Amino acid sequence: MNTGQNVYLKQNVQVEPLFNQWYAWTYLVSPATAAMYISNLHLKIMQSFVSAPDVHVAACKNPAMLGGPFIRYGPNKVGEIKALLDRTMREQVHMLEFAKAVKSLDEMLTNDASGFSLEPLYQKIPDILKGYVELVYDLNNNPSFRFIEGLLYESPYYNRSSQSLALSLIEKDDRPFVLSTPRLEDERILMLHLPFKNEGLDELFKMKHEPGPFLHIKESLGVSDAEEDLFKSFFTDREEATINPRYDGDKVRIRYFGHGCILIEWNGCSLLTDPLISYKYDNGIQRYTFADLPEVIDYVLLTHNHQDHIMFEVLLQLRHKIRNVIVPKNSGGPADPSLKLILRHIGMRNVTEIEELETIDVGPGSVTGLPFLGEHADLNIRTKIAYLIRMGSRSIMCVADSNNLEPKLYDHLHDVFGDLDILFIGMECQGAPLSWLYGPLITQPLARKQDQSRRFDGSDYEKGIGIVDRFKFKHVYVYAMGMEPWLTHITSIEYTKDAHQIIESDKLVADCRGRGITAERLFGQKEILLDAQ
Ligand SMILES: [Fe+2]
Ligand SMILES: [Fe+2]
Repeated sequence: MNTGQNVYLKQNVQVEPLFNQWYAWTYLVSPATAAMYISNLHLKIMQSFVSAPDVHVAACKNPAMLGGPFIRYGPNKVGEIKALLDRTMREQVHMLEFAKAVKSLDEMLTNDASGFSLEPLYQKIPDILKGYVELVYDLNNNPSFRFIEGLLYESPYYNRSSQSLALSLIEKDDRPFVLSTPRLEDERILMLHLPFKNEGLDELFKMKHEPGPFLHIKESLGVSDAEEDLFKSFFTDREEATINPRYDGDKVRIRYFGHGCILIEWNGCSLLTDPLISYKYDNGIQRYTFADLPEVIDYVLLTHNHQDHIMFEVLLQLRHKIRNVIVPKNSGGPADPSLKLILRHIGMRNVTEIEELETIDVGPGSVTGLPFLGEHADLNIRTKIAYLIRMGSRSIMCVADSNNLEPKLYDHLHDVFGDLDILFIGMECQGAPLSWLYGPLITQPLARKQDQSRRFDGSDYEKGIGIVDRFKFKHVYVYAMGMEPWLTHITSIEYTKDAHQIIESDKLVADCRGRGITAERLFGQKEILLDAQ
């Protein structure tokens, strides 16, 4: 490659956004949840690996343990993990103190807030949290608190210098599960020590289609001369994929990109739900990749704050072409940080919150927020919403992981919206227990039985068919639920054919087909064309 000429970024450059070397997701950007995660998960996993690496090696060989708290490295990495552990104790000491203070605040409220005025308790708030929290009761005198989140982002507890990006070339699907294995230095990985907000990243990602001068991008991202050869290997002289212009066909075009990600296009408008996109490399499975996205994405619609639905890795690479982002609103509680603030702090522009039953016009169509029940272990988490998308006379309902806990909800919604055309639904009806994702945020001991009873369950056959029947859908598509092999780093799922999720979704598909409804459990790639009128 001639570095004196304009060059393209290769299509298979993998970009892992990191926070303190751990794969970054929403809870590691929001300051309070980041403090809890460092203290109650990262440190513990690293300590466990350093003292007993063989336990981790054995656990990682067992597919059932894929999503568990085990580092997927061999014992030869003990030294590096120990170094990361030591560095974390040193550099993140303020975050560890923050997490400790949250625990004391919880204890203080449990012991001292008994239904009387909370005003005297402000002086008992741990010093470092003073001015960052408001104390509240619910209507039954149960005490709690909320963080003044906007202010925390302006405090030392939001430290952009802990953010970085790991660039490497990806040629196969296998990637370690991101929530339990920190990323370490490697000769094939270039670490860019830049905050996610850095605008040079937009320039870099644009270069997949628009060639630019190598030395300029090298300089603007602060790549050293010693790293130049590795950085150079991410570029090429020739365009690997031409940019897709806007779709201008007459039909409403829907393309499934994997997991909960679908692209809907019509009449000059493009909408992308829960962006999770594969890189372009050969794995023998037909799928759309980054190269198949249009040059502009008018709206990104995010359904809920789970790491497999909000991927910084993808959002950052698409940021330069995304015009608007629509997100659900949070509750304000300590387990439910504001998604809008999180996205703004990673540099996403035009982020709008949508309410349940609120409609936003999107060019030639509209998007309505619908209630999304369950799938969050019964915590008061409001950052979740289903969408009703209308394009022409077509109506598309994306319920993501909604659990149909109360069929009456859909009766009421049917009274408002009537019959609809297409349903997209996830059916991970046997989800992980509460502690899997929220454990690091909990400061009190949790009984195992309670933990096991409160889960991330989505809809099973009965619940799914209830939704199908109510709206008389003509097309029903079940997401692949993590089966796409290029997504196991984020979903940690390997199903056997007698898995509950497979049996229930097979049953739904068969039942729909028996009734003359087009139905399919998606996998990899799918294009659906619908008449717009
Ligand atoms: Fe989910
Ligand atoms: Fe999901």
